[in-house]
Amino acid sequence: MAERPALAALFITLEGIDGAGKSSHLEAAAAWLRERGQSVLVTREPGGTELAEALREWVLHRPMDTLTETLLVFAARRDHLVQVIEPALARGETVLCDRFTDASFAYQGGGRGLPLDVLSNLETWVQQGRQPDLTLWFDVPAAMAAARRAAVRAPDRFETEDEAFFGRVSAGYAARASAAPMRFVRLDSTAPREAVWQNVAAALHARLAPTAPTSMPP
Ligand code: TYD
Repeated sequence: MAERPALAALFITLEGIDGAGKSSHLEAAAAWLRERGQSVLVTREPGGTELAEALREWVLHRPMDTLTETLLVFAARRDHLVQVIEPALARGETVLCDRFTDASFAYQGGGRGLPLDVLSNLETWVQQGRQPDLTLWFDVPAAMAAARRAAVRAPDRFETEDEAFFGRVSAGYAARASAAPMRFVRLDSTAPREAVWQNVAAALHARLAPTAPTSMPP
């Protein structure tokens, strides 16, 4: 029997508006990848290091102007990349990250109206060419996400925004997805959770073994 080739470490990000349901698939995706022999590091943005988690607290809970918010998010991202993401990828680990720079384009760009060229410059400086290999975009209408959010915990500075804000955030994600169609997989998150999960697993499977003729495992 032919040996399966060693799987390359991947940088995978999960995106979507608050209430899209992405976080509920994070650990399941990690387990799915581990079952297939990958070492997986699960992390999040803003966050993932001591400094970046401290910045997250400020960004999510303290009032500030949009450029300040953006600079703090990218400062957190730089620390996270240098301390955690790049070393993990270099060790051959797959990195599964709850949000990354597409969220900055969607929230600070789409939602808050920060000029996209400012975001593009920060992206270039901070990432030095690093981009996710795969981005799972959990897409759901703003009204449905608002109803889901209403059921859970105390909202942060973003979750208190109105439906129009989240409509603009969604449009921001859609623009990023159409600019990078090979990287993005759009998941219809209006579907029941199990159906969304099947699509998550299919997207992971396609990225791990693009040419393998095997049927998709459960
Ligand atoms: P989120 O990832 O939804 O975590 P939780 O499930 O604990 O609420 O919250 C992070 C918030 O940060 C989210 O509302 C989007 C926002 N955010 C930005 O505005 N810009 C960014 O670049 C990132 C990474 C997140």
